[in-house]
Amino acid sequence: MKVEGRQYRTIALAEDGWSINIIDQTALPHAFVTRRLRNLDDAAEAIRSMRVRGAPLIGATAAYGVCLALRDDTSDTQLKAAIKTLAATRPTAVNLAWALDRMVKTVGPASAEKRSTTAYEAAARICEEDVAGCRAIAEHGARLITERWKTRGDATPIQVLTHCNAGWLATVDWGTALAGIYLAHDRGVPIHVWVDETRPRNQGAGLTAWELGQHGVPHTVVVDNAGGHLMQHGQVDMCLVGTDRTTADGDVCNKIGTYLKALAAEDNDIPFYVAAPYASIDWSGQEPEIPIEHRNEGEVTQVTGRTNDGKICTVRLTPKQTSALNPGFDITPARLVTGLITERGVCPASREGLLKLYMEKGR
Ligand code: MRU
Repeated sequence: MKVEGRQYRTIALAEDGWSINIIDQTALPHAFVTRRLRNLDDAAEAIRSMRVRGAPLIGATAAYGVCLALRDDTSDTQLKAAIKTLAATRPTAVNLAWALDRMVKTVGPASAEKRSTTAYEAAARICEEDVAGCRAIAEHGARLITERWKTRGDATPIQVLTHCNAGWLATVDWGTALAGIYLAHDRGVPIHVWVDETRPRNQGAGLTAWELGQHGVPHTVVVDNAGGHLMQHGQVDMCLVGTDRTTADGDVCNKIGTYLKALAAEDNDIPFYVAAPYASIDWSGQEPEIPIEHRNEGEVTQVTGRTNDGKICTVRLTPKQTSALNPGFDITPARLVTGLITERGVCPASREGLLKLYMEKGR
């Protein structure tokens, strides 16, 4: 994707051929800052502190974290320690475990001399596959958006509501839910996006709004509680969100607040689609077993932003003694999901639906 006219990916090998460049998402939308990861600790810190975030990008960063860990020490002990450190950074996005598992399976059998090169090749492949998968999701998403716009039968912009950030910042490139929006927009479908602010970390207000702005897609940020009202008043044609982990039964774990939007969409007969790349599907896990990340209460009791004179500052919203609860994700049951948009096409949110696209998983 382009930032100020320059082509970027969220993660890439630096010119030195071994360190890793990322976009530091904690500085957005107020500043565009890139950062260099030079060792395992840098990679783990970037994931933990959400400099990189979004399920697919977490997986890609973890893969490069393994590469950085193996640069000076390619022993089994080092590989195991790296996997353990990276696996503990964030619990919910299944892409993390998926990427680490794949790294172990690819790098483990390689000889000590070849391990580092094998790791870099494997991480690069994970990134390329992510880009190709998201590009395919863009195609299927754009088709759904275009069909919905056409069946509505007038030329006014189709109104899409999205939650959190499932754009290119959450992946290596393109994005998942936003990918179809970009493609439909590029193909001339008039489109307007309602962007849930997505408290407490404000991925919608800060990241999705920034991305859409960079791409020139018309959008409006709304508070998280506004979606139901907009739906009741005919101002939402479809909902399109991402996922951090979708079970093989089609239950969707995504950023906290997604479930409430799905309930409102169901009540108002509005299609609710989830963009789910292969690596975000948890083929083994059942809905009650999904680990829901609980984050720092300061994210709820305080808010950070930029003052009119350009300073970044954090202010408290609640009384000093008030405590807060901060679950990061919720689960939308499959029955509320109209369809899953995967790289292989769109399917019902069910085991049957998924297995029709991923037949190899049924064997
Ligand atoms: O906590 P985050 O910002 O890492 O949350 C992940 C997300 O970006 C969203 O839940 C998103 O919808 C799924 S990732 C494409």
